[in-house]
Amino acid sequence: MYISFLQFKPEFGNVSYNIDRIQVLLSKYLKESAIKPDLMVIPELANSGYLFSGFDELEATSETAGEGEFYNSLQKISSENGINFVAGFNEKSGKDFYNSAYIIRPDGSFDVYRKIHLFDEEKKWFKPGDKPGIYSLNINEEEVKIGVMICFDWFFPETARYLALKGADIICHPANLVMPYCQRAMFTRALENQVYTITANRIGKDINGSKDIFFTGESVILDPKGNYLARAKTDSEEIQSVEIEHTIARNKFLNPNNNIFDDRKVNISIEQ
Ligand code: ACM
Repeated sequence: MYISFLQFKPEFGNVSYNIDRIQVLLSKYLKESAIKPDLMVIPELANSGYLFSGFDELEATSETAGEGEFYNSLQKISSENGINFVAGFNEKSGKDFYNSAYIIRPDGSFDVYRKIHLFDEEKKWFKPGDKPGIYSLNINEEEVKIGVMICFDWFFPETARYLALKGADIICHPANLVMPYCQRAMFTRALENQVYTITANRIGKDINGSKDIFFTGESVILDPKGNYLARAKTDSEEIQSVEIEHTIARNKFLNPNNNIFDDRKVNISIEQ
């Protein structure tokens, strides 16, 4: 199967531009490349952009899960091309907003994961999610288990560990990274859990009034041995895909005597 990231530069507050831009990048890729991705990850808050300064901006750029323009656009591409998407979006639910990700399948079904660990001022705008993101996909008539975490969730190793313990073959990681650590740290998340990881980051800068914030690009795909299978540039819009055998992630033996899950010592206290 082919797994992919789409790295792009959303325009803050411009939902229809962002939807169009994703459509344009994808249709160009599908036309020019010999590859049809089975699973593609799209960055965090891809419909809205990131740097909010008021709830009016959240309201104007959010959608109810499964009902908005962003959902409709990805669902159509998914069913026409057989691509499963994991895509970050600004979700409205009742009076609350969530920093969420769609899991969109070609058969028309979808799920939503809500970011658990909110970063910095996100705490002003979003409610945190309370359910880890583990989902099943059907790819080439086989079950593929994915775990979903959003951006800063990576900083908490228990997030990826939980997803791996629940059977995730691939961790899908929509991101809007602003610190310089994650792309290197994903080596450890992939290796310590023996899973594939796809981090889809955005590029560019959001400017809102006197505030601005810069995003680091360099989306990455890793295999369970920590090899970097794909790495995007820091400043270009691009789609990259790699072919993987997801069942490799189900072998948790490092050697005949070490199974990384069976060898965990979860009941030993390390406090003095
Ligand atoms: C982040 O969690 N978007 C830094």
